[in-house]
Amino acid sequence: MIRSPLMTVMTDAVMKASRSLKRDFGEIENLQVLAKGPGDFVSKADTKAEEIIRAALEKARPGYGFVMEESGVVQGTDESNRWHIDPLDGTHNFLRGIPHWNISVALERDNQFIAGVVYDAAKDELFIAEKGKGAYVNNRRMRVSGRREPAEMLIGMGVPHIGKGGHPLFLHELGAVMTRFANVRRMGSAALDIAYVAAGRMDAYWERGLNTWDFAAGAVMIREAGGTFGTLDGKQPTSAKDIICGNEVGEQSLRAALKSAG
Ligand code: IPD
Ligand code: CA
Ligand code: CA
Ligand code: CA
Repeated sequence: MIRSPLMTVMTDAVMKASRSLKRDFGEIENLQVLAKGPGDFVSKADTKAEEIIRAALEKARPGYGFVMEESGVVQGTDESNRWHIDPLDGTHNFLRGIPHWNISVALERDNQFIAGVVYDAAKDELFIAEKGKGAYVNNRRMRVSGRREPAEMLIGMGVPHIGKGGHPLFLHELGAVMTRFANVRRMGSAALDIAYVAAGRMDAYWERGLNTWDFAAGAVMIREAGGTFGTLDGKQPTSAKDIICGNEVGEQSLRAALKSAG
């Protein structure tokens, strides 16, 4: 697999940030943890990693815009290209010493996500995808799973944190999913959930209220791995959305289950 110049820029930036995050992992007492709201944490590790990625991308591709979880939107002089950055996806896992978190970077060009990188630094798994060039995990081609029977499918999901107020709809949806599919996983990192669907490790995934930095890289991966990626309202997302993806049968079966609950 030959890495394109764009992919090299993205992976170099992500690797640089991963070195900072690996140093910070397990050092919670030095990370100045703040709550943005109930159950929603941020730390010095997140902001430091974001600064590193932004500086690296700015240097390599001056003028591109940014959509960043911690620093917000920065308009670029180049109106076609902007980066979507989640410097630490799975902050709650990270802060609790759970080795399941990642750095996620995607490029949006002319209103389409065209390239994505998700790096699980604790397990040294690099998931990459570029439009028309395939999706890979550590240089192995990714394909979504071939499972067609819902009763055999493993479904990924996100659980709304306490600040999102209990979410009665989510509980109904979970009930519908649990009675139709083999089992569910809540692993705590949306970008990795989506990358795992692309890798065939789970068959479908849904989560409400994701931001572009959580899902943009994964959207490229799912499509390049032969799956389907969309929103619960059926539109193609370039802003925050309720996300659903999977192998085609998994996505459709999950969509039907969620609809029966709503
Ligand atoms: C969160 C994680 C979590 C998901 C939340 C995200 P963060 O991202 O991906 O799994 O359920 O919706 O906000 O805040 O750790 O980057
Ligand atoms: Ca966060
Ligand atoms: Ca995130
Ligand atoms: Ca984050």
